[in-house]
Amino acid sequence: MAGDRKRHYWITGAGSGIGRALAASLSAEGHRVYVSGRNPDKLEALVQSLGGDVIPVACDVANDQEMAGVLAAHNVEHLDTVILCAGICEYIDMPALDIDTIRRVTETNFHGVVNSCIAALPLLKRQGGASPGERPHIIGVGSMSSYLGFPRAEAYGSSKAAMAYFLDALRIDLVGQVDVTVVYPGFVSTPMTDRNDFPMPFLISAEEAAGIIIRKARRRPNTIVFPLRLHWLLRVLSWFPGLWYSVISPRLSRSAGAGS
Ligand SMILES: NC(=O)c1ccc[n+]([C@@H]2O[C@H](COP(=O)([O-])OP(=O)(O)OC[C@H]3O[C@@H](n4cnc5c(N)ncnc54)[C@H](OP(=O)(O)O)[C@@H]3O)[C@@H](O)[C@H]2O)c1
Repeated sequence: MAGDRKRHYWITGAGSGIGRALAASLSAEGHRVYVSGRNPDKLEALVQSLGGDVIPVACDVANDQEMAGVLAAHNVEHLDTVILCAGICEYIDMPALDIDTIRRVTETNFHGVVNSCIAALPLLKRQGGASPGERPHIIGVGSMSSYLGFPRAEAYGSSKAAMAYFLDALRIDLVGQVDVTVVYPGFVSTPMTDRNDFPMPFLISAEEAAGIIIRKARRRPNTIVFPLRLHWLLRVLSWFPGLWYSVISPRLSRSAGAGS
């Protein structure tokens, strides 16, 4: 992602979707890629299919204790870039607002990002003094769902808002040492979105998403957003909350009486 030097990447959630497409592109470029997910067999199959310098690091990002020692346990001694893709999406169907769903999604999408940063930071910071374009880099995959409240997204959207805030604050506290980028994808065709039963405007492939992330991350931006059409549509709607919350979003809600 920066220059031609071989870099060492750690990608969480690399077993499928955007993470897998990133792992495929980066290993094809000749980088070392540590790939994480919960299922060791899935990771082993990924390693076999990609070839190259791809190393499995099976772990559950939501498990604090496992994550604290995960890189040492896999003999990872050097890291340049961490890409935080591990995530789950579960929708809330009223009236079933339950703490278990919120906790499950938050533990993966928010605490999982925190755990991964805690695990990676000692290795990333070891390279202090690297020139700006070569600095270590944390890239977190958030979601445009955190721009506005969306129906059924009480768990997913709030977990993504929390992780984006965490990474925005971390960026300030790591300035000059580690660059931090938050990615806000729109809809990407992956096993996660294959389950969706609603229209997904401007849907793109995981390979397209990975290509955009890799290309844009070279400049170390604070944020990467795509597709721009959906980004601007939602941004403009966020400037008119009355229109979104009183007129448009109730028509999207499945709750009894909504939109009437
Ligand atoms: N697809 C979209 O439209 C879209 C849009 C915005 C943001 N995103 C975000 O992009 C990221 C990648 O999503 P995707 O669409 O590529 O979905 P995906 O294909 O379901 O990939 C998610 C990956 O995360 C791994 N994972 C889940 N829980 C984990 C845990 N506790 N520990 C370790 N790994 C875990 C899964 O592997 P295992 O099950 O093997 O652990 C899976 O390979 C997610 O953070 C998602 O929220 C996606």
